[in-house]
Formats: sequence, C-alpha cells, structure tokens
Amino acid sequence: MVLPQVFISAFLLLLPAASGAFLEVYGMGGDPVTLPCSYPESRILSFVCWGRGECASDTCGQTLVWTDGNRVNYRTSNRYQINSQLLQGNASLTIEYAYESDSGLYCCRVEMKGWDGVQTLTTSLQVQPGSNSTKGLAIGLSVFLLLLALVSALVITNYILMKKRPGSPSLVALCVSKIRTLLNKEVA
Ligand SMILES: *[C@@H]1O[C@H](CO)[C@@H](O)[C@H](O)[C@H]1NC(C)=O
Repeated sequence: MVLPQVFISAFLLLLPAASGAFLEVYGMGGDPVTLPCSYPESRILSFVCWGRGECASDTCGQTLVWTDGNRVNYRTSNRYQINSQLLQGNASLTIEYAYESDSGLYCCRVEMKGWDGVQTLTTSLQVQPGSNSTKGLAIGLSVFLLLLALVSALVITNYILMKKRPGSPSLVALCVSKIRTLLNKEVA
C-alpha cells in the first residue's frame, strides 16, 4: 500500500503553491508601504535587488532597484527606498507613495559572501484604494450638488417670474427668441 502515501506527499508538496504561500502585506493608496526582507546580520552582503514578480532561480524578476550594499546602483523610481540599515540585516523595501497598481508579487534577492550565500523571498502586496480617491469622490459629489442647486435656483426663479406676470414669456422662451433674432440678423 504505497499509493496513498504517494498521494498524501504529493498533496503536501502542492499545498503551499496552491494556497499562495507568499507573505501578504497590505497597504493604503497614497501611503508608504514597507515590504520586509531580512538576512543574518553576521553575513557579508554583496548584492541586494528588489523586483516585480516571483523570485526566479537567478534573478529578482523585473528589477526595480538594486544595490551592492554601499550605494544604490540602480532605481527605476524615487518611490523605491531600500532600508538604510542594509548592513545590519534589514533589506526591506519602502514604496513611498503606494498606488493600487503597485499590488502584486515582489521579489527580494540577497546575495552574501561565502558558500550558499543566496536568499530569496517573494512577498504579495495588496494596496487598497486610499484616502485620496475618497477625497476625489467627495469633491466630485460637492461639484454635482452645487450644479444641482444652481439649476434648481434658475428653474424656481423662472417659475416665480412667470407667476408674477402671467402671459409674459418665460426666461427660457425669452432666450430662445433672442437667439432666433440674432440668427435671423446674421442670415439677412
Ligand atoms: C526593517 O526596517 C523597516 C523600515 O525601517 C522596519 O519597518 C522593520 O521593522 C525592520 N525590520 C526588522 C526585522 O528590523
């Protein structure tokens, strides 16, 4: 009876991949968000890179930023800040102003001197709509309400004028006839 054991071990092997075994980090749009990545402080660092996508065997995906530990050698945007305590074992990445479109997988790859000196970590980032989009919605809503109030005021004024002087043309009719005479003059 080897078969059930094979099935069980296959299931256990597949489980982490299926359930998304990546560390989850949540952020808010417009806020900074930090993706952790640490390594043993005792090791001598030679290379750190952060990229979009899952860590591959010899790259960090689509590279966003990389450093040799002394200075940042490459960075696609100023929004990406590698931790200043890089040499103390903390290689976290801070995205200064997160967008919803920043959501997805990130790879941290740390190369250290000595044998077996590579460490990779894939993290899943979820950026929720932040306070800024709520603010935009509020502004849009107030502009809409203001316009609504303006139109209502015009309609009410028109109504009152018509009531006061029955038989006189309404404001709208007045405007239309004015435009018509103007047009007629142009044609003539
Ligand atoms: C690494 O640095 C980040 C940002 O400064 C901080 O939030 C985090 O707690 C640090 N992690 C460790 C393991 O010290």
